[in-house]
Amino acid sequence: MSSHTPNIESLQHEERVFPPPEQFRQSARIGSLEDYESLRAEASASPETFWARMAEELHWFKKWDTVLEWTLPHAKWFVGGKLNISYNCLDRHLQSARRNKAAIIWEGEPGEQRTLTYQQLHSQVCRFANVLKRSGVETGDRVALYMPLIPELAIAMLACARIGATHSIVFGGFSADSLKDRINDAGCKLVVTADGGYRRGSEIALKPTVDEALKHTPTVKGCVVVRRTGTRIHMEAGRDHWWHELMETVDAKCPAEELDSEHPLYILYTSGTTGKPKGILHTTGGYLLQAHLTTKWIFDIKDEDIYWCTADIGWVTGHSYVVYGPLSNGATVLMYEGAPNHPEPDRFWQIIERHGVNIFYTAPTAIRAFIKWGEQWPLKHDLSSLRLLGTVGEPINPEAWMWYREIIGKGRCPIVDTWWQTETGAIMISPLPGVTATKPGSATKPLPGIEVDVMTKAGEAVGANEGGYLVIKRPWPSMLRTIWGDDERYQQQYWSEIEGVYFAGDGARRDADGYFWIMGRVDDVINVSGHRLGTAEVESALVSHEAVAEAAVVARPDEIKGSAIVAFVTLEGQHKTSDALKEELRKHVTREIGSLARPDEIRFTDALPKTRSGKIMRRLLRELATGGAVRGDTTTLEDFSVLEKLRAEEE
Ligand code: PRX
Repeated sequence: MSSHTPNIESLQHEERVFPPPEQFRQSARIGSLEDYESLRAEASASPETFWARMAEELHWFKKWDTVLEWTLPHAKWFVGGKLNISYNCLDRHLQSARRNKAAIIWEGEPGEQRTLTYQQLHSQVCRFANVLKRSGVETGDRVALYMPLIPELAIAMLACARIGATHSIVFGGFSADSLKDRINDAGCKLVVTADGGYRRGSEIALKPTVDEALKHTPTVKGCVVVRRTGTRIHMEAGRDHWWHELMETVDAKCPAEELDSEHPLYILYTSGTTGKPKGILHTTGGYLLQAHLTTKWIFDIKDEDIYWCTADIGWVTGHSYVVYGPLSNGATVLMYEGAPNHPEPDRFWQIIERHGVNIFYTAPTAIRAFIKWGEQWPLKHDLSSLRLLGTVGEPINPEAWMWYREIIGKGRCPIVDTWWQTETGAIMISPLPGVTATKPGSATKPLPGIEVDVMTKAGEAVGANEGGYLVIKRPWPSMLRTIWGDDERYQQQYWSEIEGVYFAGDGARRDADGYFWIMGRVDDVINVSGHRLGTAEVESALVSHEAVAEAAVVARPDEIKGSAIVAFVTLEGQHKTSDALKEELRKHVTREIGSLARPDEIRFTDALPKTRSGKIMRRLLRELATGGAVRGDTTTLEDFSVLEKLRAEEE
């Protein structure tokens, strides 16, 4: 958290209100305001009784003894209960007609299609669970998954969950170094990967990156490789094995382990305010409960729906809303491997038309790209199957929201703008599409059982329409349990900024109707194309280059990506500024972290503006990067000439 966070001022005023379309309301799972209000009332009168009643929807091998044990900041939910997520997502559906229903409809970027029914998915998951066991993976071990968006990724996740191994998925865009750090932090025993995947018409190699990472990962005993692209790769004798060969040698039966409700389900790394990514830990019972309920309520999933969340499974949205939430509801999930503009900018609309997608969940950054590409692309396709639209990952500007509503939803589909985080595990603030009137740009209200507030740093609630810090006041079932291996950082990052409440790191305001408007991060975390990056991570990548003495990274608003990365860099004495060096530094960051962290702009400077105590004044740099002018307070600046020079370089 930066010490110089300015007062949060909210300037946005949006007056439009859209009630749920009557036709949607009539058949919605929650379609009456009375039902919704009574859920809210029940939840606020006795949260634990409410969550216990909701948890009846899951399959438990053994019921819990205690709903919640809460000693701030540590929560345990459904203590004593035993369940298995893979059982809830698969076996349960085999006892009904869902057995033969499509669980996953997958489309590869080059155009192949695969469908897995629940029964087929179950048998693949059981087989891979046996492969894991055969490879020496036991309950409690960690397994790293570094894969393209192919069904095998979901199979591997569910197989881990089936035997109680904790998965740690690393997005395929991360570099060998980032992968290595994550594998080592979690102490993974096995890595599952693929030879490569496809993105925007090119093959993205994955196995060579894994080979590089595995040079320095002492805990890894083996690597399983899916053949996706068929490209030639190195297979290390004794360590690397082909997925398809291993799957031939095992049984298709594997009973699901009866796991404690608090058994670690997964670790997912996300960026924080320091250079070291945080391993967010989620456990079993509480996580599944909220992933399940929110999918059902917010996406209004019905048995006949085809549901498509465009997120990569490497991010939390993919964990909760491509895999666990929809499958536990017995839904049909569409998965698409590649880019939205391959081969043409209408690929998404083509997919919606081809498969008759009913529910579509994507990110504002994608919507802004669609707007830029032009409405002729969606207009070429029949999108009449759509009945519900969603967004996640960053604030959506009202104009993008209106475009989404009119051009994609034809004014007929409700939009659910869902606020949540890797840490919250599931959606916390969102409309319910059959009951909540929506306002463009607002995630509307917290869900039943979720108590959210907007506060000052001193912990005082702010008034209507006043900006402040978004906090959560009560533990919730799908909350993170800790930062892997670092309870202290967990306590300090989330439960110490404002006493007694969870600090989300977002600014927000609540309007007179109780609607929440999220204003973005208030810490040194930036949101680029809906992905979180710590400025400190990018800075330390830059500084690790021999030419760089110091670096400061800030965000500048970007029409498509939300934020663009601007890096101010000072060089070691003997190095000269040049365009070639800028390009070299960009490449260096890509190598160190991954392409998602590649700076959009690099500015060389002789010195960085600092306070007398030596802290870089990022606020000034942000102002320079954004508009050129520095308007805020500069009285704490140590050397005024630095600012003058930076300004001069601007001109
Ligand atoms: O700043 C908020 C923004 O994304 C952050 C969480 O990022 P991550 O953990 O990567 O998870 C993204 C997907 C859940 C939040 O702190 N954010 C997420 N959803 C919204 C949002 N900002 C505004 N509106 C949203 N609907």
